[in-house]
Amino acid sequence: MMIACLPGDGIGPEIMAQALRVLAALDLGIETAIADVGGTAYKKHGHPLPPETLDLARTSDAVLFGAVGDPDCDNLERHLRPEQAILGLRSALGLFANLRPATMFKGLEHMSALKPEVASAIDLLIVRELNGDVYFGEKAQRVLEDGRRQGFDFMSYAEDEVRRIAHVAFRAAQGRKGRLCSVDKANVLETSQLWRDVVIEVAAEYPDVELSHMYVDNAAMQLVRNPGQFDVIVTGNLFGDILSDQASMCVGSIGLLASAALGERQTGKGTFGLYEPIHGSAPDIAGQGKANPMAMILSLAMLLRHSLGLEEQAARVEKAVSRALADGITGADLGGSAGTSEVGDAVLERL
Ligand code: NAD
Ligand code: IPM
Ligand code: MN
Repeated sequence: MMIACLPGDGIGPEIMAQALRVLAALDLGIETAIADVGGTAYKKHGHPLPPETLDLARTSDAVLFGAVGDPDCDNLERHLRPEQAILGLRSALGLFANLRPATMFKGLEHMSALKPEVASAIDLLIVRELNGDVYFGEKAQRVLEDGRRQGFDFMSYAEDEVRRIAHVAFRAAQGRKGRLCSVDKANVLETSQLWRDVVIEVAAEYPDVELSHMYVDNAAMQLVRNPGQFDVIVTGNLFGDILSDQASMCVGSIGLLASAALGERQTGKGTFGLYEPIHGSAPDIAGQGKANPMAMILSLAMLLRHSLGLEEQAARVEKAVSRALADGITGADLGGSAGTSEVGDAVLERL
């Protein structure tokens, strides 16, 4: 088994180092190979996703990804910006299903942005479509006849794209509490109306799952009013991006939420995938040794589970993180004083 490790920019390398310590401690005999991605790759090789990096990802059993994004690169032509690396990987590798779980950790209820009694009920999974939507439509800026500048991004979903993510979400709900909420904006957007129609068609194959629909504006409100009502949420690329950052603060910190991006390719032990924290490169705290590495470590746990079939080891890593949090080991993002490597130490001790 071989894991391609792409640390990326900002806090990416700092948190990746802690995840790799955990992997080493598990002593599973898994090979790792490291490659440049994002702004780091642009500065060295002139492209945020060099062909060698994409090849390495392609030939691996799973990809562990830190974060990309560098303020120095914000004015580059779009195709050269660091963010294109993660979008390029998701699309080139056919990783259309993004699982973003958000669960309250015992002892952390008081750190949620919500009241503890509201936050304690959080146990949800956002299933975000990752290969379509306004992210991948035609986009440009142009000058209109009257001289005004205009920017546009074409939003669309084809029915097969909706169908395949709906199947992933229904199956996830079957393995959980059996409730699926599809989030859209069907009252305004035709893209969303098609989304809703197709989700309803797919629902016929899952009579054991209770399906509901919610407009995204209401979903944002319900997520802070009563997040405990949600089991699985399925939604498009853009809404899923926004709602998952919001869900992270319901749990307590964006430094806690992991994710898996899965496609159809099988590894022999599971499904090939790319695993990354939901947060970005956090340039404001990069290089200061204070980033929370837990989302990265929990992403490694998801990798072990989904791509390598190592459920027991995945659960072991997750338990070590939960115990560190229950013992009050937190960094600045959660009101504590532990640095990145101290949080790593605490997880390793409990492993
Ligand atoms: P961000 O998630 O990087 O940071 C938002 C805030 O959360 C910052 O204050 C940051 O310090 C904090 N934060 C994030 N992760 C943390 C952690 N592990 N521990 C403690 N605090 C943490 O979002 P942003 O500031 O909007 O974006 C910064 C850059 O990252 C941009 O270039 C953006 O495009 C990129 N980005 C990349 C990814 C990715 O690689 N998948 C995801 C989101 C944003
Ligand atoms: C994420 C990020 C990315 C996204 C950006 C960096 C392209 O915000 O992984 O959540 O919007 O998908
Ligand atoms: Mn995001």
